[in-house]
Amino acid sequence: MATTTCVAPEMVAEVRAGLMRTGQKELPSKYLYDSVGSALFEVICTLPEYGLTRADERLLQIYSGEIVSKLTTPVVVAELGSGTGKKTRCILEALSSLQHSSYSYFPIEISASALTSCKRELGDIDFVSIVGLEREYLDGLLEVAARREPEQQLLVLFLGSTIGNFEHPADEKFLREVRNILCPGDALLLGTDLKKETPRLIRAYDDPLKVTAAFDMNILVRLNRELDADFVLENFEHVARFNENTSSIEMHLRSKVEQTVNIPGAELTVSFRAGETIWTESSHKFTREEICRLARATHFELLGQWIDQEWPFAENLLIAK
Ligand code: TRP
Repeated sequence: MATTTCVAPEMVAEVRAGLMRTGQKELPSKYLYDSVGSALFEVICTLPEYGLTRADERLLQIYSGEIVSKLTTPVVVAELGSGTGKKTRCILEALSSLQHSSYSYFPIEISASALTSCKRELGDIDFVSIVGLEREYLDGLLEVAARREPEQQLLVLFLGSTIGNFEHPADEKFLREVRNILCPGDALLLGTDLKKETPRLIRAYDDPLKVTAAFDMNILVRLNRELDADFVLENFEHVARFNENTSSIEMHLRSKVEQTVNIPGAELTVSFRAGETIWTESSHKFTREEICRLARATHFELLGQWIDQEWPFAENLLIAK
C-alpha cells in the first residue's frame, strides 16, 4: 500500500521536475539527508578517505584564537547550518575568552532536530546564549540582522565547504545576498575545500567500503518508501567523477541497464537508457586565487586565509566592504 499520505507537495514537484528532464536527470541533494542519510553522512566524515571535515575541524582547533582576534568586540554570531557543533565550539570558546561578556549565537537550520542537538552540544559554553532559528539561511540571517544592536559586529559562519555545493554562478549570487544583509565591517568565515589530485578526490567521494555509495543510493530507497517507487537498487550504481571544466566532483546514480521505473506517489513513470545517470550532487573544489576573486566580486575583502596542509582546505575570513 502506498505510504504517500504525508509527502510534502514540494518533494513531489521537485522529483517530477528533476526526473522528467530531457537532458541530464537530477534529484535535489537535500533529499539525501533523511535519518538514514544523515547517519551515513556522519560515518562519511570519519572515513580516512574523506579528509574534508577533519581538515575543517583541525583548522578551527588551531586557529580559532587567531581568527577571532581579527574581529572587533562586541560580536554576535550567526551560523548557516548548525552542523554537529564540534567546529563551532572552537570559535565560540575563543570568542568567549576574548570578549568576556554575554553574547548571542544564532544557529540557522531547517532541521528542528539539528537545532536541538546543537543547543545540547554547545549550551555549556560561557557567556553564550543560543537562539536557534528554524529557517532557510537567508531568512534566518535577515532575522539576526533585525535583532542585532548597531554597535555589534556580526560574524557569520559558513563552514564545511557547503558553498561548493552551489552550482556556479549560484555560489556568487548567494554570497552577494549574504553580503547585502550585512553592514560594512561585518565578517563571514567561509570554509572552502581546495583542488587536489583527482584520484584522491575520487576516493573521498567513492570510498572502498561503499559508505558513500550507500549514502547516495539511499535517495532511491527514500523514493521507494515515500513515493511508493519501484527502483531496483541492484540496477543502479554510485559514480563519482571529476569535471575538469567546472572543477567539481559530481555524484551520479548510473542505471546499469535499460529500464523503466514507476513512481506512483509522483504520478510518474521514468525510462532510463543503460548508462544514463541521475545527478545528485556536485562539490566544487576551489583554488586560492578563485576565493580572492569570489570575495572581491561579492563585495568582501579577504582579510585572512588559513590552510590545512594534510588535506588542502581553507578557512577564509571575509569582511564586508
Ligand atoms: N557536502 C558534502 C560534500 O560535498 C556532501 C557529500 C559528501 C556528498 N559525499 C557525498 C553528497 C556523496 C553526495 C554524494 O563534500
